Amino acid sequence: MPTAFQSPSHTEPMPRHVAIIMDGNGRWAQGRGLPRTAGHEKGAEAVRETVRHARRLGLECLTLFAFSTLNWQRPTSEVRDLMDLLERFLVDELPEMLQNGIRLVAIGERELLPAKVRTRLEETEARTAHGKDMTLVLAVSYDGRRDLVRAARQIAELARRGELLPADVDEAQLASVLSTADLPDVDLLVRTSGEKRLSGFLPFEACYAELHFTPIHWPDFGAEALDASIAEFARRHRRFGMTGEQAAALG
Ligand code: IPE
Ligand code: IPE
Ligand code: MG
Repeated sequence: MPTAFQSPSHTEPMPRHVAIIMDGNGRWAQGRGLPRTAGHEKGAEAVRETVRHARRLGLECLTLFAFSTLNWQRPTSEVRDLMDLLERFLVDELPEMLQNGIRLVAIGERELLPAKVRTRLEETEARTAHGKDMTLVLAVSYDGRRDLVRAARQIAELARRGELLPADVDEAQLASVLSTADLPDVDLLVRTSGEKRLSGFLPFEACYAELHFTPIHWPDFGAEALDASIAEFARRHRRFGMTGEQAAALG
């Protein structure tokens, strides 16, 4: 069952795993008469600030939805700008990730990414693999249903080889073949910019997540907004199917 731990800097229960759908870069820019790319550039700064703050708070895991499978449909020039930005981000942030004990993990169909981005992601994963203080997950070219389909194929292949029986497939086994294997369940899922949908994000992993929708556009997100989301989480009563009294008795 998912648990919550007490952060040294918080007296309220802290989520172990926060996942964010970083939305609204385009609208942020368009509202200022700027090209969409300017919103993505400012969005990268918001990522930096949010990661820094999450690390300061002692969060165990932060997952950021950076680019969905559906986003490949965007104009070629926007996709190229986003890929360039991602590559630059990985280069610029590596020293701070190493210094702060951050382990980077990428989820999504990396084989679809331009070679230079894929290489950079894999280098960053390898260089930061020993980071013990926070896991930063970047969902890039990610779609939760596609990840489930890939996992189902992997299970079918294990069964075909006689390495697995149908009865061996349970929640833990399925979780172990998803790209998020070894990560805790998502406790808090945040979406910025006022949209209230999941857009394919972590359907299995966020099955019992608290949802927080904020009207803030992603480029304006940062330490204060993350604190507000976590404060909202602390006010929720997670009953896990029990009565309020039962849940309270368990603490
Ligand atoms: C989020 O902002 C960034 C990505 C999806 C890559 P958007 O680019 O979706 O911004 P809006 O929703 O058009 O405002
Ligand atoms: C979801 O945002 C994906 C990311 C934040 C990377 P979108 O802006 O692409 O989602 P839709 O199209 O509004 O559902
Ligand atoms: Mg959007």
